[in-house]
Amino acid sequence: MQNFSEIKEMQQQCHSWRNNGETISFVPTMGCLHAGHLSLVQKAQSTADRVVVSIFVNPLQFNDPADFLKYPNTLEDDLRKLADTGADLVFTPDASAFYPEGENAVEQIELGGITSILEGAHRPGHFAGVATVVKRLFDLVQPTNAIFGEKDFQQLIVIKQLVEKFSLNIDVIGMPTSREADGLAMSSRNLRLSEEERAKASEIFHQLHAIKLELTSGNCDFLQLEQKACENLKSAGFVPDYVSICDSETLLPAKDETESKIILAAAKLGDIRLIDNLKV
Ligand code: PAJ
Repeated sequence: MQNFSEIKEMQQQCHSWRNNGETISFVPTMGCLHAGHLSLVQKAQSTADRVVVSIFVNPLQFNDPADFLKYPNTLEDDLRKLADTGADLVFTPDASAFYPEGENAVEQIELGGITSILEGAHRPGHFAGVATVVKRLFDLVQPTNAIFGEKDFQQLIVIKQLVEKFSLNIDVIGMPTSREADGLAMSSRNLRLSEEERAKASEIFHQLHAIKLELTSGNCDFLQLEQKACENLKSAGFVPDYVSICDSETLLPAKDETESKIILAAAKLGDIRLIDNLKV
C-alpha cells in the first residue's frame, strides 16, 4: 500500500492506473477508522481494480471549532487497518497544500435546498464544507466510483447532487450503517464518550427502531411519534436536536402517502453530538 501526502505523487499514480485502463474506487474519510469505514473499503475493492482512500480532517465542514480541534487522530493505526483491508493508496494531504489559498479564502460550493434542513439547519455551513472538499478530492483522484456510508444519509444525498450538478462521471455507491452489538452506529466520535455515556448511547437507535415498529404497524401520527422519541431521549440524558420522519428521497417531512420513509435523529450526549437514521 502506498501512502502519499503530496498531491502530485498521488495524482501521478492515479493517472498511471487510469492510463493502464484500471478503474478506481475512492473512499474519502477523516480517519480514526472503524469497521464501518473498512466496510466501504471492502466495497471499493469489489467494485474497481484499485482502491484509493483519503484521510483528511476537513476544517471547512466543522461549524464547531472545538469539535475540529478534538477530532481524534489515529493515523498509524488507520494505515495498518487500510493495508490489512487491501487499499492500494492512502492520500493524506496537509491542509496548507490542499487549500493553498488558505481555508478562509476558499470559495465554497453552495448546493442550496437539502443542505439547509436537518443537519444543515443545526450545522450551518457544514454541507458547503463537505461539498467543497469532496469536489476537490474527486477532481484530484478522478475515480470511477466513490463509496459513502448511509450513516450520514443526508451527506450521501448531497454528494449525489454534487455529482449531478457538475456532471461528474462518478458512480456514487451507498453502504449500510455498521453498528456495535447494542445497535449504536459506529462513529469516530464514539471514542470520546465516557463509559457512562457509552452505556446510554444506543438509546438513539432504540428510539428509531421503536418508531419504525409503530410506522410499520400503521401508526401515521408522525408528529406524536417524533415528540415521544425526543421526550424519551431527554429522559435518558440526551439533548435532542431532532427526530424526523422523512421522505427518503427529498428528506422533507413524510406525508401519509410517502412510500419510502426514513427516520433521522441527532442528539447530544454530554459534549458529543451523535446522528443516526433508519429506513422504514
Ligand atoms: P467520516 O466521518 O470519516 O466518514 C467517512 C465515510 O465513512 C462516510 O461516507 C461515512 O458515511 C462513512 N461511515 C461513517 N460511519 C459509518 C458506519 N457506522 N457505517 C458505515 N459507514 C460509515 O463523512 C466524512 O468522514 C466526511 O464528511 C467526508 C465525506 C470524508 C468529507 O470530509
